[in-house]
Amino acid sequence: MLTELQIQKLNDELKDPIELIKWANHEFSPKLAFASSFGAEDVVVIDMLMQIDKNIRIFTLDTGRLNQETYDVIDAIRNKYNIHIEVTFPDAHEVIEMTHKYGTNLFYKNKDNRKLCCGIRKVNPLNKILSTLDCWVTGIRNDQTNNRNESRAIEIDEQHNDMIKVNPIITWNWKTTWNYIKSNNLVYNKLHDLGYPSIGCEPCTRAIKTGENLRAGRWWWEKESDKECGLHMDHTK
Ligand code: ADX
Ligand code: SF4
Repeated sequence: MLTELQIQKLNDELKDPIELIKWANHEFSPKLAFASSFGAEDVVVIDMLMQIDKNIRIFTLDTGRLNQETYDVIDAIRNKYNIHIEVTFPDAHEVIEMTHKYGTNLFYKNKDNRKLCCGIRKVNPLNKILSTLDCWVTGIRNDQTNNRNESRAIEIDEQHNDMIKVNPIITWNWKTTWNYIKSNNLVYNKLHDLGYPSIGCEPCTRAIKTGENLRAGRWWWEKESDKECGLHMDHTK
């Protein structure tokens, strides 16, 4: 178990994403995995993982409501690197009960419904897989939401039983992410070319208009500027 002081020291020493992933892999393999939604940041991190160790586990939370373009990029990545992607699904009984009670498109009705759906389709499956790991790697960036503003490359994840969370490109921005994608000719989700900077589930994500915040297309009917589904923020508190 790492102390806060040790974490601070590691964050001061390890600045390069590759070095961060190497450290995490060395420290926690095989109880380490990368959570990928296959958005722009995630294809960057996957490319870095492949340079280090092709056996690092990659999992994705298939909510059952993803865009076809997301399934396309999952398969494209699988083929490009010849790797296995672990696909998790929500608990069928929970989905049946939820849709029976509140309908299939319950999320549009109110925020509690939306959180319930994110909870059942994303957060619960995430918690289940994280309970088997000591460290998870993510593609979050500081500039995405206020909640992520304070996140560091290596942190103790209090939301998940004090396990270690590693965010190798936490300090990157939109431009650095896309420079990496273009200069390394990476496979990416085609929705990015259609005005979707941030991609979640199909019914809850739309393209953004010029001048809009990069996450404005996520749960676009909700008014708050800082939108999270619960993977990186505990909605139950
Ligand atoms: S969300 O909380 O708003 O949905 P976002 O789309 O910004 O998250 O993605 C941030 C990071 O969370 C990704 O880089 C990835 O590590 C993880 N993540 C998000 N969605 C998924 C998913 N469906 N499966 C696995 N990991 C995910
Ligand atoms: Fe449900 Fe929408 Fe959340 Fe996906 S993003 S889990 S469809 S509420």
